[in-house]
Amino acid sequence: MISKDTINKILEYARVEEVVGDFVHLKRAGANFKGVCPFHDEKTPSFVVSPAKNIYKCFGCGAAGDPLKFVMEHEHLSYPEGLKYLAAKYKIEIEETDTPLTEEQKSEQTAKESLLIAMKYAAKYYHDALLNTEEGKLVGLSYFHFRGFTDKTIHDFELGYAADSFENFTKSAQKAGYQLNILEKAGLVRTKDEQHSYDFFRARVMFPIHNLSGKVVAFGGRIMSKDVKQAKYINSPETEIYTKGKLVYGIFQAKNEIRKQDACYLVEGYTDVLSFYQAGIANVVASSGTALTKEQVKLIKRFSNNIILIYDGDQAGINAALRGVDIMLEEDMNVKVVVLPNGEDPDSFVKANGSEATLQFIEENKKDFIFFKSEILLKSAKNDPSLKASSIRNIVESIALIQDPIRKAYYTKECSMLAELSEDILIKEVNKFSIHLHKQRKHLSGLADIQIAKDLIDLSVKIEPEIIAEDSSKNILAIQEKEILRVLFQHGHRVMKDEELVIHYILNHIEGIPFSDALCLKIFNTCIEHYDKGVPFEQLQNEGFYQDDEIKTFIIDLNISPYQLSPKWESDYSIIVKSNERVWENDVISTINRFMYHKILERLKIIDQEIKELSADQTDENYALIEQKLFEKLTLQNSKKEIAKIPGTVIFK
Ligand code: CTP
Ligand code: MN
Repeated sequence: MISKDTINKILEYARVEEVVGDFVHLKRAGANFKGVCPFHDEKTPSFVVSPAKNIYKCFGCGAAGDPLKFVMEHEHLSYPEGLKYLAAKYKIEIEETDTPLTEEQKSEQTAKESLLIAMKYAAKYYHDALLNTEEGKLVGLSYFHFRGFTDKTIHDFELGYAADSFENFTKSAQKAGYQLNILEKAGLVRTKDEQHSYDFFRARVMFPIHNLSGKVVAFGGRIMSKDVKQAKYINSPETEIYTKGKLVYGIFQAKNEIRKQDACYLVEGYTDVLSFYQAGIANVVASSGTALTKEQVKLIKRFSNNIILIYDGDQAGINAALRGVDIMLEEDMNVKVVVLPNGEDPDSFVKANGSEATLQFIEENKKDFIFFKSEILLKSAKNDPSLKASSIRNIVESIALIQDPIRKAYYTKECSMLAELSEDILIKEVNKFSIHLHKQRKHLSGLADIQIAKDLIDLSVKIEPEIIAEDSSKNILAIQEKEILRVLFQHGHRVMKDEELVIHYILNHIEGIPFSDALCLKIFNTCIEHYDKGVPFEQLQNEGFYQDDEIKTFIIDLNISPYQLSPKWESDYSIIVKSNERVWENDVISTINRFMYHKILERLKIIDQEIKELSADQTDENYALIEQKLFEKLTLQNSKKEIAKIPGTVIFK
């Protein structure tokens, strides 16, 4: 038997327009959809689907029902088969109970139901107290108004007020017929001794926490003063109907919009959710100040795979963001992070700037997790190889959590650039962790194949500070040069925005700058020589054109690399570039910028060395030379700064 919980979940998730839409071509008609009825023969559509009511109805033949009924009738399925169909569609895990409910389970269920009823009463009581009592209006409502919340927001989130009294709520609930032990179990009332029970929430504005189906399962209560001795918020204890780590605040109000926008903003607090919602950004939920759990991520994932963390710019906010990321990666969510200016939280930011500017700020500042994490970790590691090694290990561990191999490869490459490390080392590292994870997972499921994992691990290189120090400067230039060849071969024939051919653009920019990697130099020169002689570029892109095996292999490798920019990259990984239309153009430009940047770094190092040598012998002639070198150094430093400022040139120093 499918458990009652599962059935409820299925009915809750199934959207009539989506279920029907898989079989009937639906067209929007106001708030509803219309289509040709699949249950009888007709030419003009009289089959109406109402998303708001989550039902369909045919005005021709009278067929009507909910999503489950639709699949049962249309696909000729039994009740459990229909449920299983919907569970599969909505990726809901089916819990089976093979025995009928025991007496104990039955009473547990009625207990749960009575808690829900008590919570419903409490929510109404507090909401009512806010709107219709003198104290509530004077204290609670004016507080919410002072915070800028409108009556609509107050209504939509059922905000409330708990009076400054020890027993207002308890007495009233008891009078309404609620038993003390239920009120206690629900976390609404505390009992000191037989004679003394008192309200758990006192003198606070109330934020009810709704579960997915809109039932109140808990409350958060906020003091209105700046009393530092009291906790700013107190929250309902965990109960039979409320597990903190399984819910996110605002999911009931946000779920449809999350699905519609295919994105979810994750903020920290109740008021952040309210302010976003009020500003028209309704796809927002809060983790409520604690570390995110796997269950919470899974809950969001049912509605969208795209999650954007918005955190305060202080250290606590950044740390919170870093902690959440790994759990989301493991669920293969696309994670972006936005850090607000220091001192701002989403609530204050959207109030000060309005929704348009807020969305624009998010758009311009959202960083893919890898950039975010790398920036923070690598910045603090600076030139300390052992700190850098541990930072890289940390980043690599995150990348290893990603299950999709293409995304994984992409991030590995980006990380190698950011950390100025050869890709080979990183691939080995990521693989090592991936195997480790795989082993752990297998181990958990009792299928450990430890020997294979061990063999693979033994192949991988250990990421040690010495390797990093040595690898950084030696290989980073080769990586950049290889990248230049990649964009040359992939995009050389294309025309840039200002009508310039990519190959010309590349030549104009890197002319006269020597390659340091012998193979890259050879390939580049061979290609350009032929081009100068008039061989069409399309021909030069083909490895078959070349006699030299090394060149052939190199070009084949470039073409089978997972880093080619396909339209999918554009939509899924907008991090590469901002403009969707000309994804390849940004690829070309940023690749050249990175190349230039690293060439400048290399040249600066050489100049420093030369100046040092010249100063050893202090002749007039050498002074003149040193002056020249210093001037060159200054010029280069300025260009370096300019390049680093260009968006898309991901360089940290
Ligand atoms: N929180 C909590 N208990 C506290 C402090 C915070 O449960 N003592 C949770 C609440 O869910 C709160 C979230 O952590 O919404 C974020 O905390 P904070 O940023 O301090 O509060 P805000 O939501 O910003 O509330 P306000 O704007 O009213 O200060
Ligand atoms: Mn706040």
